[in-house]
Amino acid sequence: MLSNFTVIGGKASEDLAKKIAVKLKAKYLKSELRIFPDGESKITISGKPKNGKIVVVQSTYPPVDSNLIQALSLVSKIRKYSSQVYAVIPYLGYARQDKEFLPGEVITMSLVANMFKAAGASKIIIVDIHSKMALNHFKIPAKNVSAISELVKYFKKLKLKDPLVISPDIGGITRARDFAKLFGTKFIALRKQRDRKTGNVVIKSANQKQVKGRDLILVDDMISTGGSIVKAAEFLKKQKCKNIYAACTHALLIGDAEKRIRKAGVSKIVSTNTIPGRTSVVDVSPVISKAIV
Ligand code: R5P
Repeated sequence: MLSNFTVIGGKASEDLAKKIAVKLKAKYLKSELRIFPDGESKITISGKPKNGKIVVVQSTYPPVDSNLIQALSLVSKIRKYSSQVYAVIPYLGYARQDKEFLPGEVITMSLVANMFKAAGASKIIIVDIHSKMALNHFKIPAKNVSAISELVKYFKKLKLKDPLVISPDIGGITRARDFAKLFGTKFIALRKQRDRKTGNVVIKSANQKQVKGRDLILVDDMISTGGSIVKAAEFLKKQKCKNIYAACTHALLIGDAEKRIRKAGVSKIVSTNTIPGRTSVVDVSPVISKAIV
């Protein structure tokens, strides 16, 4: 028997939305998307939602602004059917712009948070948001869901040699610690420095003797240009580690990031279906569904 949920999949997250609908025993409605020659998105929902809670699923990976406006459009349409509108934005673009790093910068995360409220979302669910600080910008209940447990399940199936978990930066310590704890191994964190103007990354860590001969899992929330993972992998290779694996929730893999990461010595990139792609082998529908009910 179906529950009183309806799940609506935005074009950026159709497969994940279908999986969530199955788990919630919900009615599934798809959305039709037409992009006009000037770039405007026109969205139509196929069918009518049930009375009850309605879940919109749409990640806002590139094209970020188009996917964002589509998510907001779906939420605003659905608000006419129900007062309980859950916006599930598995990958939330703009989450890294959560504070004024340099004078004069706009905190776009705050604007995005306000837009979801204005569109009519009653709750927002995000997977591994870049920082908990970004959640504070929402004036509606906002929940962050961790994909770490699902990523760990995947890695447990690989036969790794004396594995060690690595965070490419100090900011990722909690994530690496959670991963290592569930995986049953130790972790270390590298010291990374990013030039706020150019975006260039350098690893400032001293030599790490404990990585020699071991399989390493670099754990991060996201891979965008690949700069962080490339620099970390190059550094770790010099320390004579064995294989390097990269685990992340959101693999944007902009441009030739995947190629550069492999060239730097990473044998496998493992990511989740918050962003569908060649590396998204881990399904986050179980953790999202749990957070919804
Ligand atoms: C930074 O703090 C994040 O956790 C990621 O390490 C970063 O956003 C990845 O970006 P990129 O792949 O461009 O280095």
